[in-house]
Amino acid sequence: MKNLLIIASIFIIQPIFAQKFEGLAQTPPMGWNSWNQFGCRVNEQLIREMADAMASSGMKDAGYEYVVIDDCWQIGRDSAGNIIADPESFPSGIKALSDYIHSKGLKFGLYSDGGVYTCAHRPGSRGYEFSDARTYASWGVDFLKYDWCYSEGQSAEASYRLMRDALYKAGRPIVFSMCEWGSNEPWLWGQGIAHLWRTTGDISDCFSCESNWGSMGVMQILDRQVKLRGYSGPGHWNDPDMLEVGNHGLTLTEARAHFGLWCLLSAPLMAGNDLRDMPEEIVKILTNREVIAIDQDTLGRQALKWMDYGNLEIWLKPLANGDFAIGILNRSDEIITFDKKLQLTTYDTDFKPKSYTYRIDENFTIRDLWNHKQLGTTRENFKAEIDSHGLILLRLSKNNGH
Ligand code: GLA
Repeated sequence: MKNLLIIASIFIIQPIFAQKFEGLAQTPPMGWNSWNQFGCRVNEQLIREMADAMASSGMKDAGYEYVVIDDCWQIGRDSAGNIIADPESFPSGIKALSDYIHSKGLKFGLYSDGGVYTCAHRPGSRGYEFSDARTYASWGVDFLKYDWCYSEGQSAEASYRLMRDALYKAGRPIVFSMCEWGSNEPWLWGQGIAHLWRTTGDISDCFSCESNWGSMGVMQILDRQVKLRGYSGPGHWNDPDMLEVGNHGLTLTEARAHFGLWCLLSAPLMAGNDLRDMPEEIVKILTNREVIAIDQDTLGRQALKWMDYGNLEIWLKPLANGDFAIGILNRSDEIITFDKKLQLTTYDTDFKPKSYTYRIDENFTIRDLWNHKQLGTTRENFKAEIDSHGLILLRLSKNNGH
């Protein structure tokens, strides 16, 4: 009888506690995160200004919603073990900041770590998962990025599962963003745990570089997404890391390519630049609605690398209404002249157990999403000069004879 009760309680309790919040992040989350531009230099004034800028720059209207403080907001624990925000940088407290962000119609995110310390050696959540989750819920947190430094000897799956359970128990729907850099292949086990997971080490604001620090340029990260596409979808996204658009290491052409590629990858779009004084050209990239629509497409299918000619790649993303997004990427240092028909039939077998057939015949219209222009149909050759490190981004729509 006792055994029966135990077994019954496992079956009854499991579905209540052992799950993530479903229904969140049905399209890739969009927002801003402090790390790429500000590192540890975070304070409440900066975060408020960033929320203001998100609203006034047009980013909020374009779909950005989460304002996320990354590492270095936390300083210690009180005698009861509750996490304490740095009182010098956040004198009004995190709840007041969260209220301010919510008052702008935006959502609020925080950062912690599954190990004893965060990567910047602030207190991590190990051993305090339930307490921290309760604190976040009481502060009105909507998004948690959960890192993996100082986690020696821990199982990644168990640690992330524990924080998932703690968040669920705290009762506030919080998007859960795993950041263990792809080290434990989170795409294989993360779907029931988190809403997104980093697939690589940290991004650098360079197009093609691999630094000693294990950080990577946009191209290196792109290459690592190819085999992961089948694991991504609504509510569970591959995260190739936050954006470097508007940071200094990328030219405008490269920033545009980076943004367009991340949209083709159905990547979370977390801006990582200073939103307060953005050049017009950067605002144009970050708020290009036709490009964002590719990222936010409800089908949520990460793009396929359809053709690889070495320095020239063609990426293909099927969209919910039967359209296709196509990205033509020039990785070389020279301009490339493209002159081919964009027609194809291809089989997509990455989303097991299903497979799909994509067919682009001569009856599609072609639209240039950077320049908002119609460029003929697939009946004719598509001709374009592609700048070095440039990405042409097109939307192909079935031509109904209009
Ligand atoms: C790790 C993460 C980064 C950032 C820093 C903060 O490196 O991958 O995205 O959160 O920690 O210390």
